[in-house]
Amino acid sequence: MSPAEPRQITIFDTTLRDGEQSPGASMNLAEKLEVAQALTELGVDVIEAGFPISSPGDLEAVREVAKLVRGVEVCGLARSQKKDIDAAWEALKDAEQPRIHVFLATSAIHREHKLRKSEDEIIAMAVESVRYARNLAPKVEFSPEDASRTDIDYLCRVVEAVIDAGATSVNIPDTVGYATPPEMDERIKSLIHRVPNIDKTVLSVHCHNDLGMATANSLAAVMAGAGQIECTINALGERAGNCALEEVVMAMKTRSDIYNTRTNIVTNRLVPVSRLVSTITGLRVPRNKAIVGQNAFAHESGIHQDGMLKNPSTYEIMKPEDVGLQKSDLVLGKHSGRAALIDRARSLGHELTPEQIDVVFAEFKRLADRKKDVYDADIIAIIEQRVQHKTIVTWEFDSYQLESGTGKAPNVTLTLKRAGRTFSKTISEGDGPVDAMFVAVCELTNTKMQCREYTIRSVTDGQDAQGEVSVYVDSSGRNERGLGISTDIFEASALAFVNAVNRILEGGRKS
Ligand code: KIV
Ligand code: ZN
Repeated sequence: MSPAEPRQITIFDTTLRDGEQSPGASMNLAEKLEVAQALTELGVDVIEAGFPISSPGDLEAVREVAKLVRGVEVCGLARSQKKDIDAAWEALKDAEQPRIHVFLATSAIHREHKLRKSEDEIIAMAVESVRYARNLAPKVEFSPEDASRTDIDYLCRVVEAVIDAGATSVNIPDTVGYATPPEMDERIKSLIHRVPNIDKTVLSVHCHNDLGMATANSLAAVMAGAGQIECTINALGERAGNCALEEVVMAMKTRSDIYNTRTNIVTNRLVPVSRLVSTITGLRVPRNKAIVGQNAFAHESGIHQDGMLKNPSTYEIMKPEDVGLQKSDLVLGKHSGRAALIDRARSLGHELTPEQIDVVFAEFKRLADRKKDVYDADIIAIIEQRVQHKTIVTWEFDSYQLESGTGKAPNVTLTLKRAGRTFSKTISEGDGPVDAMFVAVCELTNTKMQCREYTIRSVTDGQDAQGEVSVYVDSSGRNERGLGISTDIFEASALAFVNAVNRILEGGRKS
């Protein structure tokens, strides 16, 4: 008997919607478009681009994503209400392949305490909204929110009713990350066996990671027969996040002997897209994160290194190249030319335009003057900072002078540029030089803000490594982040604060 054909699994990415709900992960329009383009190139089947009724900015973002991408479905979220569905359609109507995603809570806890509706009232609302949405869009997904805590008999009734009303996909969310893999298996199998019209829809899962089981639960659902996984890059999402796209995809690929599935994901784009999302959101990927973490393919123990040298399959279950990690960290220096840089950027997954190459090459030369060896991580940092950072630059860092020492108040003179003019300020106060730099940025730009978080990490190993400063600031109740990279950590700090100010100003212009 020949083995069964692999089953195609739809990858529904919700980085721009549920992912953006991660505290601190909000993205501006240009950033969302960049992520949407990267997701399209990654090969996801559906991009959930936002929740249009939630704000004018979200509606605009879904609309622009819908206009931009081709060959991929674009989805907008809506509660089971006409005004939400109208807003979603308003945002999606120019999409090549639009999908409206309607949700309504079905668990007793949510029905009784949040919605105060009976079982029958919920079914009536769900059916009405799916019908209404199907009159607008060719594809409509329905999610019974908190499905994993919904009584299974009632869940079967809801699912049957929304399929009859025209739901082309039905998603089973583990909204609070409470399910376990055996429960997910049983729930999906029950739906498949008990809902008579289940073959008229695509059954999907959407798992949160509160107990660290989102990937395991999603895979259990696939094994039980689900045809779609909802997931995010780097496991972003509400609270502890969602199922990580990179993990489910690589699990299905690496263990195809178990899952016998396939997806349209171009797996060697996983690391570049993960880095892009991490830079844009400011949420760093932990070093030991599966698939895309810095240590995911690093072998430290002597025994492991010995085995790797003899045969990589001794300790490596996936090839680093398959997820887009380059094996060699080729070193460039100040004598390296444009062609070498372009080649390196390309093999790191960045196809740059001639204008972008000019910017990156100039910055690379500046860096090579300060730093003997330029590594892949440095080049990625330059690309992320200079090309992918889509903040409108109102204020620009120019230079600084600093005097500081133990038991002495710092003295900082900072110069910034705005519209071609330079502005300087000297500050002789603060707990230390970074604090003084922060005060100088606030005063020069006339911005009132508090620094809530300040972190610094080195981009590569070595004494001459670049420092990356990441800050979170609060300005009139608005949280913004800023990022700065330089071999000089005070300069990196100033760049990060100035970047945060620019983001505050950009946000202010929109609202
Ligand atoms: O977690 C959840 O229940 C959701 C729904 C809107 C699908 O995000
Ligand atoms: Zn969710």
